[in-house]
Formats: sequence, C-alpha cells, structure tokens
Amino acid sequence: MSAIEVAGLEKSYGQLRAVGGVSFSVRKGEVFSLLGPNGAGKTTTIEILEGLRRQDGGTARVLGLDPWHKGYELHERIGVIPQGFKFLDYPTPREAIAYYAALFNRRVEPDEMLRRVILEDAANVWFQNLSGGQKQKLGMALSLVNDPEVVFLDEPTTGLDPQARRAVWEVIRKLKNEGRTVMLTTHYLEEAEELADRVAIMNHGKIVAMGTTGEIESKFGSGQKMMVKAKDDLLTYLRENTKLQVEGEAGTVTIRLRDKDDALVALGAIEESGTDWGDLNVKRDSLEDVFLRLVGEEGREEGTE
Ligand SMILES: Nc1ncnc2c1ncn2[C@@H]1O[C@H](COP(=O)(O)OP(=O)(O)OP(=O)(O)O)[C@@H](O)[C@H]1O
Ligand SMILES: [Mg+2]
Repeated sequence: MSAIEVAGLEKSYGQLRAVGGVSFSVRKGEVFSLLGPNGAGKTTTIEILEGLRRQDGGTARVLGLDPWHKGYELHERIGVIPQGFKFLDYPTPREAIAYYAALFNRRVEPDEMLRRVILEDAANVWFQNLSGGQKQKLGMALSLVNDPEVVFLDEPTTGLDPQARRAVWEVIRKLKNEGRTVMLTTHYLEEAEELADRVAIMNHGKIVAMGTTGEIESKFGSGQKMMVKAKDDLLTYLRENTKLQVEGEAGTVTIRLRDKDDALVALGAIEESGTDWGDLNVKRDSLEDVFLRLVGEEGREEGTE
C-alpha cells in the first residue's frame, strides 16, 4: 500500500487556484520531494495531507486515511515540521520534548531524542537562544516524538548554513533508514538530488514533472554538451567541416552530443582544426537547469496571455 495517495487535488483561495488538480503517490519508506517556486502550492498540498486544510476537490489519503475526517487518528501516526517552525521562547529542547511526549502520551527519553537529531549539546538552552539550525533540529525531534510512520518536512533547511543543512540531511537519511516515509519540500535542488527517491516539480498549482532526478533530467534536459574554451576560429572550423550542432559564446564553444559518435567526431575535429583550445568538459543538464527551464517557461507563457 502507498503511504500517500493524492488524486485530482484542488484548493482555491477566492479566485486563486493554489492547487489545481494534483495527483501523485508516495510509497512506504520513500523520500518524496515537492519542488517549486514560491507560491507554487507546496505548503497548501502538504497541509491538506496533514489534515490542517480541507481540499475543494479530489481525494487525499495518508496511511489509507482521509486527513480531514480522520485527523485525530492520523496525527498519532504522522510527524510534522511546518514551514518556518517556531516554538515558545523559554522551554529548552529537553523540556519541549518532555512536553510533546506528554501530549502524545508516549514514553520517550528526551536525551535519546536529542542524540537522534544531533542536538545533545544544546539540551538546556532556551528556545529563543538556539541557532537557526538548532531550532530546526528541535523541530525534527518534536516531529519524531510519536514515532511517526510518515514525516512531513516543509523547508526544514531554509536559512541554514551548509554545515547545519548537512546535519539535517543526516537526520533525514536516518528517518529513511528506519523505514519511515518522508515528504520534503525544499528550494535547494541539490538537497532533493541528495535525499529524494523521487521528486515532483510544481508550478502554479500543477505538477509539471515527476520521477527520479535522473528520469527528469533525461526527459526534460537537453542531453550532453561538450564545452571547450576556444576562439571563433574553432567554431567556424566545426561548422564548415562537420555536421555537429555547435554554438559559440564568450570564448566557449558548445557542441551538442546527440550520441557517442558526436563525441568522437568532435574530439577528432577539434584536434584537426589546429586551433588553440583548452578546458574541455562534458556537461549534462542538472536538475536545476531543468527546473529553471520548466518553471521559467510556464512563467513566460503566463506573461504572454
Ligand atoms: N490562507 C490563504 N489565503 C489566501 N491565499 C493563500 C493562503 N495560503 C496560501 N495562499 C496562496 O496560495 C498560493 C500557494 O501558496 P503555498 O503556501 O502553498 O505555496 P508554496 O509552494 O508553499 O510557496 P513557498 O515556496 O513560498 O513556501 C500562494 O499564492 C499563496 O499566496
Ligand atoms: Mg511553502
């Protein structure tokens, strides 16, 4: 059974269609990442799944339950870190965990929870004095108090320095190793590449691409490109002597590699040209290149309407 099933989900705020018919499913134990620009509808989608907002149309199931009608039952089994997690100023992480444990009527060892999220050093620091990364880690610890099967993390690493971000990644990897299902939103595409089994890219309330990052890159990317630092004489030589697709810009000649032969022909021709060249490398569109293309194009279409 899937951990999360969403079909034709819709949610409008007045005239604004924040979620416009979204469908996807997340397998148990999978890390699934929702990506998309500001206002794409990620938080709205997640909050519907958490039972905090009610959809206008379509269906949502988390662990087989309808989040809106079975919220109480569901909240025992899911963990949530809302976007921009905040807490009261004065409790310390140790007290906060004890408080949550009491709310959920669970027996947890606060120090053990703090160790799991690598926060033991700040166990007795008031929340208001924790660093941004420590606050996020406390959010993670609190979301785990009830030993959840599904964890919703809405931008858990926004605003963190690279080291703190990596510490949060480590915690997310542990969640996956423990067999939990994780739904993650992020604006850091390398974070999704690093952690997610599959991603969905949302834009204007719709999913515009979904799959593993490799699938998305090969489906929506423009394939491999060879880039060589060279002057225009190489560009001219390649245009006149080969059938390669070439472009030149700012001292870099870019050759599109449609297949392996293109790569061999390109290397041979560069050598034969007798021109001065250097810094050869082969690149493939990254998730970020694809993301910008998909989300940028949609934006432009909208602008011309
Ligand atoms: N309660 C609300 N009332 C009116 N409009 C809302 C409400 N909540 C969200 N919206 C609008 O719905 C759209 C989607 O918002 P949402 O928070 O789901 O986006 P998001 O993808 O999470 O964006 P971000 O990356 O900035 O967090 C936005 O245009 C937002 O302004
Ligand atoms: Mg959001």
